Amino acid sequence: MSIINYNKKAYIKTYGCQMNVHDSEIMAGLLLNKGYEVTANMNEADVVLLNTCAIRGKAEDKVYSQLGVLKKLKEKRPGLILGVGGCMAQREGEKIFRRSPSVDLIFGTHQICNLPTFLNEVIRERRKVIAIKEGKISQEGVKAYRADRAEAYVAIMRGCNNHCTYCVVPSARGRQNSRPPEEVIKEIEDLVEEGYKEVTLLGQNVVAYGKDLGGIDFIDLLERVNEIEGIEKIKYISSHPKDMSDRLIETLPGLSKACEDLHLPVQSGSNRILKAMNRGYTREEYLKIIGKVRSLIPRISITTDIIVGFPGEGEKDFADTLSLMKEVRFASAYMFKYSPRPGTPAEKMSEQIPEEIRLKRLHEVIDLQREISEKIRNF
Ligand code: 5AD
Ligand code: SF4
Repeated sequence: MSIINYNKKAYIKTYGCQMNVHDSEIMAGLLLNKGYEVTANMNEADVVLLNTCAIRGKAEDKVYSQLGVLKKLKEKRPGLILGVGGCMAQREGEKIFRRSPSVDLIFGTHQICNLPTFLNEVIRERRKVIAIKEGKISQEGVKAYRADRAEAYVAIMRGCNNHCTYCVVPSARGRQNSRPPEEVIKEIEDLVEEGYKEVTLLGQNVVAYGKDLGGIDFIDLLERVNEIEGIEKIKYISSHPKDMSDRLIETLPGLSKACEDLHLPVQSGSNRILKAMNRGYTREEYLKIIGKVRSLIPRISITTDIIVGFPGEGEKDFADTLSLMKEVRFASAYMFKYSPRPGTPAEKMSEQIPEEIRLKRLHEVIDLQREISEKIRNF
């Protein structure tokens, strides 16, 4: 049975990271291809999809409160179809049906490309559908619908093989899965045809690209993308410091299109905390990477992610984070207070830091970073 849904309007709300933004672009592309219209107005939609994030408790709270609003909308319009996809759907599964009975569809991170089929089942068979099986995502032949006309996201890998003790990503997105290089190159060449000059290569840890494929690594891929005529700028996020090899750092200056920005999450400046986070590098090793990158590319803009209030973080550990920030002088930083996540090792660690201390430390790093960013901008 073909799935054509002329006149049906879909609204997609996205939570979380750039990968989720891109997954929503893929969902929009799939729906447009099946005859749906994608609307920016939730109130006129026949189908409302929430593409969710699970990284911090707050991200999940937002979704449940949005579902409360949608429940009311559905009472007024019983035909409305509600779908919950993405990381929280993957982790919570059936629980979402129990907490929010008005939801019709739950689809996980590995199932986004089957979205039109699931919606068809919900609409035609008038039943609830849940699809959270893990498996390879094949994007072949799928055309994402990108609202941004200047810069295009391209997923080069999904999932993560690391075991940071605070993080839900491995449980939300599974193990690392790199896309075949030919598929990535073809997608970028097509984007050039459409007029794009700037791409952002996406992955939970892009510098580990290819380790699961064999015979290719991130450097090879970056070199190939750098050669594509018409592309003028390449960004890539995110990179794990432990996978920043000397060879990659030494190759970067020669990649004229890819050497302006580096996002390198440090998380903490304390060796004790880095160990408890299972990050796989020390403060000194991190600083050495930064030193080497800057000596080869002095004008590079380096940004980071920082978590404050991780279990066991004492005043001295926190001071180490502040001093690292002063030493590196990041152009900007995403800063978070630690959020205990169900099922992660850190959640069970003793010495959880009280909320008010986490919040106080968060304000402190934000103030410090603001000062640093302003000075860099005015330089
Ligand atoms: N609590 C707070 N921040 C977190 N991050 C990941 N997990 C947590 C958590 N449990 C942050 C990290 C990561 C970014 C995407 O989100 O800094 O790099
Ligand atoms: Fe949130 Fe992480 Fe999933 Fe992105 S990968 S949506 S940050 S949980």
